[in-house]
Amino acid sequence: MTHGASTGARRIYLLVGAVGAGKGTQAEILRERLGLPHLASGDLFRKATREGTPLGEKARVYMERGDLVPDELTIAMFMDELAKPEAARGAILDGFPRTVAQASALDATLAGQGEAISRVVYVEVPSEELVERVSGRWVCPTDGTPYHVVTDPPRVPGICDKDGTPLIQREDDKPEVVRARLAQQVPPMLEVIAHYERAGKVARIDGRGAIDEVTARVLDALGMSQRVG
Ligand code: AP5
Ligand code: MG
Repeated sequence: MTHGASTGARRIYLLVGAVGAGKGTQAEILRERLGLPHLASGDLFRKATREGTPLGEKARVYMERGDLVPDELTIAMFMDELAKPEAARGAILDGFPRTVAQASALDATLAGQGEAISRVVYVEVPSEELVERVSGRWVCPTDGTPYHVVTDPPRVPGICDKDGTPLIQREDDKPEVVRARLAQQVPPMLEVIAHYERAGKVARIDGRGAIDEVTARVLDALGMSQRVG
């Protein structure tokens, strides 16, 4: 299989999927395995909101409604992250780009540096399962690590495995906001998939099944064999 290879040294992997598809869960696993930073647009917006920055205050209004944050804010925030030294070897992008305008801006920035997206993994999950996943989700407020009461519980109930912080439920996981997120955000996400399919970058994977089964499919899509042990 031919993978769309990056022309530069950095490895830039995109995880794309609807609300609750498992982007954050799989990106955290990839971060540990590949030693690349996990850059999640939603986590970055939530951090800015918690810190009360001007960006966070603007983003909050859109996130509470389940709408996309405007492209200019999102693109500026994400390009800053990609320019940081932590991303010098590459990054796992979770939730960005989410519109064709964002994808084009990302492509243009990378092309200006002789780089390109390495691979886009599109994690597909039926909408009934998405709603069930999100309704059982608890997250770490510090770093956004997601857990699920049934399918991925923390070792100690209600506490983050990584840093011991009490877990919370996301404000935008209320059923009416989840419905709005699906309605508003899936159509532009499908346009992003079509954009990268034209460039031959997309691997579609089945996001159903146990978390480690999905990880095996993601690694396969990235051309990496699963190491057992
Ligand atoms: P964001 O935080 O990115 O939300 P999202 O895309 O809706 O995705 P989620 O984080 O809800 O789901 P996920 O795919 O990460 O799933 P997870 O791994 O947690 O964005 C939030 C908001 O910010 C947006 O609504 C928008 O307003 C704004 N925004 C963000 N990016 C933007 C952009 N680029 N442009 C404009 N606006 C933007 O898994 C879900 C649950 O399922 C968890 O409980 C998990 O434990 C469980 N689970 C995971 N995998 C499995 C499995 N295989 N089996 C069973 N359970 C599983
Ligand atoms: Mg997420």
